[in-house]
Amino acid sequence: MVDYARRHIVMPKCEFYEFDVNSEHIPSNFQSRFDYIFSFFALMYVKNPEQAFKNIHAMLKPNGRTFNVFLPFLPTDSVYRKLCKHEKWGKYGHEQMLSSYSSAASPENCYQQALDRSGFKYYFSVEKTSYTFSNEEEWKGFFISINTAIPNIPDDELDEYKELLFNLINNELLIDGSVKGSKIYNLDYCVMSASKISS
Ligand SMILES: C[S@@+](CC[C@H](N)C(=O)[O-])C[C@H]1O[C@@H](n2cnc3c(N)ncnc32)[C@H](O)[C@@H]1O
Repeated sequence: MVDYARRHIVMPKCEFYEFDVNSEHIPSNFQSRFDYIFSFFALMYVKNPEQAFKNIHAMLKPNGRTFNVFLPFLPTDSVYRKLCKHEKWGKYGHEQMLSSYSSAASPENCYQQALDRSGFKYYFSVEKTSYTFSNEEEWKGFFISINTAIPNIPDDELDEYKELLFNLINNELLIDGSVKGSKIYNLDYCVMSASKISS
């Protein structure tokens, strides 16, 4: 993706780098470097959000600001947790798709506690929203496109896997919509905005 951006995006003042925001080592040229840092739908995938918040704090200049939108948990967590323990499908890497605090009773509290320890003065809220898939093809296509276990599954077992996956998703995550064949997918999201108070 970074190579693609370097080749195709013409923004003379931009440079593209790959960086694991969970890393325990921040490159020296990233320390106290940025006025603004933002992310969308990424922080629920990092294994250690507290480290990520501390890194964002360390990469901001004094008085720098950060804005992040992420999900407190993934609605698919319950499905992938089942598949992690499944006798046949458990070995295909579903744990990679679980959100950061997938087993916590209150993931949003976990994010707030991580923020409390990060040094930020912050605003945090949880909003509720939903998405309506207009037909079966659309929701099935969506859940296939975000499933990173699929490349690990042998081709001749894929239909059997998809049948179970779609049953679990349909039974656990989706509600019938008002238009025939449509499905509603409920999700919460977190909005976090913070400043690095200069000392
Ligand atoms: C669902 S995509 C969102 C992409 C984009 N922000 C958007 O809104 O369309 C999640 C992104 O989080 C990134 N991501 C996941 N873990 C990360 C980490 N530890 N460090 C940096 N980025 C990470 C992935 O590379 C991916 O681009």
